[in-house]
Amino acid sequence: MNLEGRHALVTGAASGIGLAVCEQLAARGVAAITAVDLSEQIDDAVATLNAGAGRPVATAYRGDTSDPEFRRSVFDAAVTAHGPVSLCVPAAGITLDGLAVKLDRETGTAELYPQERFERTVAVNLIAPIYWALETIRSIVEDREARTAGRWMPDEGTQGAIVFIGSVSSHGNVGQLSYAACKAGLDGARATLAMEAKKWGVRAAIVHPGFTDTPMVAAVPGEVLEEHILPQIQIRRLLRPEEIAETICFALSNASISGAVWADGGWHAPA
Ligand code: CAA
Repeated sequence: MNLEGRHALVTGAASGIGLAVCEQLAARGVAAITAVDLSEQIDDAVATLNAGAGRPVATAYRGDTSDPEFRRSVFDAAVTAHGPVSLCVPAAGITLDGLAVKLDRETGTAELYPQERFERTVAVNLIAPIYWALETIRSIVEDREARTAGRWMPDEGTQGAIVFIGSVSSHGNVGQLSYAACKAGLDGARATLAMEAKKWGVRAAIVHPGFTDTPMVAAVPGEVLEEHILPQIQIRRLLRPEEIAETICFALSNASISGAVWADGGWHAPA
């Protein structure tokens, strides 16, 4: 599947994996990138991206990806400007790490992981990426209807590809109850969307990255990284955002990919 001339949408585009995906999409000749992030860094990131690409390929949208009104407003503007979104990478995510049950040995009482933190993680890491993907499918479906394109046939080529961002943590990670549940949940959502959207020529895949050198991993306490994380990574280093972006672009462009791809550096979590 040729990425040239496509309209791509990336959330979490101001830094980390999302930004690296935008850079590689620009290099691969996409026509437009709708670049979304909550951080005010998104404006600078897009300016640098466009300068590097030598063309105004990306447009910045700043807002909370879990806010349905913001999401709708981005799609309205982006689809009006560039047509249906055919590549979607909803990469925005948060960690609100904490032990599931934390015992205070002095008082003998235990605290549960706060439900509000669980709910916020679900809103941002599970529901939001799914809904950005649904809007993408809607933009494709409505465009087909408007063009009276009729039933999609495989010889038309892929109409759209969605790549969710999973994680090695989807198989469990100490301190990541809510994050792990969301990342595992994306597997089920991906599988369902792949089944429902195949009739419109849309694929849905998921890339599960290992620990990657991003602002998110930079927030992990140094001793946890040294003691519990690096020793489990076969190549004994954090992955680079560009390595994950390459895998994501592979999943976007290779028409055979409709499932999970692991880019985990040989992560072997302890039993
Ligand atoms: N594996 C095994 N044990 C771990 C552990 C791990 N990864 N992390 C912490 N522990 C253990 C500690 O050694 C400690 O053990 P003892 O009680 O026997 O001493 C126990 O858990 C409690 O640890 P803390 O005293 O540090 O407890 P805390 O409440 O202050 O903090 C925590 C707990 C919030 C989980 C903190 O350790 C933490 O932030 N860990 C990092 C969690 C993590 O891996 N996050 C990944 C973020 S990056 C990301 O999410 C991207 C991605 O996709 C992978």
